[in-house]
Amino acid sequence: RGTPRNLARLARALQAGEVVGVPTETVYGLAGNALDAAACRRIFRAKGRPANDPLIVHIHSLRQLPEVAQPNEAALALAQAFWPGPLTLVLPKQPIIPDVVSSGLPTVAVRMPSHPLFRRLLKQTALPLAAPSANPFGYVSPTSAAHVVAGLGTKIRHVLDGGPCRIGVESTIVDLRDPRRPRILRPGAITRAQIEGVLRRRVAAGKSRSDEHRAQVSPGLLTRHYSPRTPAVLHEEIRPAAIQRAPKSEAWVFITRPTDVRGKNIFWLDPRGDLRGAARRLFHVLREVDAGGFTRVHLERARGDGLAEAINDRLQRAAARA
Ligand code: TXA
Ligand code: MG
Repeated sequence: RGTPRNLARLARALQAGEVVGVPTETVYGLAGNALDAAACRRIFRAKGRPANDPLIVHIHSLRQLPEVAQPNEAALALAQAFWPGPLTLVLPKQPIIPDVVSSGLPTVAVRMPSHPLFRRLLKQTALPLAAPSANPFGYVSPTSAAHVVAGLGTKIRHVLDGGPCRIGVESTIVDLRDPRRPRILRPGAITRAQIEGVLRRRVAAGKSRSDEHRAQVSPGLLTRHYSPRTPAVLHEEIRPAAIQRAPKSEAWVFITRPTDVRGKNIFWLDPRGDLRGAARRLFHVLREVDAGGFTRVHLERARGDGLAEAINDRLQRAAARA
């Protein structure tokens, strides 16, 4: 828990090169000193994450940004508008960031989180902290301390409990290597429209073709990720007749509460279909479905843009075949 004594203890552990499960407003992270290659290797080991999937560096103050990365005007404008918050910027890296963090790329992903407890911890350590989501590689991201313990409890000694995550899906990642050609690598709670509003230009989404053809691509951006263990199928719309025809061993997940079907195999993300509520509960519900031992899960897409894009991105990845 986030008592001053615990925070001081965790700050010392981080300074000594240990890894700590930390709450953020998006999902829980597994943090370590971003300037310490050995600490960062511990993160990869605990997660079972391949070395070619780079980490996000978390900072407490804007003063730290030029210490870890080389910001351009577009980056500063976005940082000004959305930090602290669920936005990650990919920029040319400073040499102080070890190659393990960036997986050998010349860039680094940086974000200033808004969760008050994590901010206090960042301030106390006075270090940039590298932190991927605190889940075993490939599984659904954790949105509570209990999720972190369930996934990594045997691998890590410390988890700071900051309650359930307010946003529930990972940060929006914007590639700003070339500030004239910004690109959204992963949709999140900061929407494309918000980013375009600040940059006053069109922003592309997805990997560029040149990146796809490059040997070094981030597996975190590969299609299958965030996957429940239950085989998943994505639907544009789920009709009650389809549920009646299917065996009871199959689960159904709606964005909003369905009016005409009921049962232990029927799930919804938000009672009224509010997208913020739906994003918040998404990973928790996927874990509940896994715990229910269903033979298959059917997922219904969110409608609209903005946060719907982030939710649909995660649903699509959950349903993607390897
Ligand atoms: O909300 C979040 O971003 C959470 C919390 C803990 O901050 N973190 C998170 O980290 O989602 P992770 O490691 O699960 O996802 C980071 C993504 C990966 O897909 C990785 O490929 C990408 O960021 N990434 C990291 N550095 C990159 C770089 N230099 N260039 C392109 N992509 C990068
Ligand atoms: Mg992750």
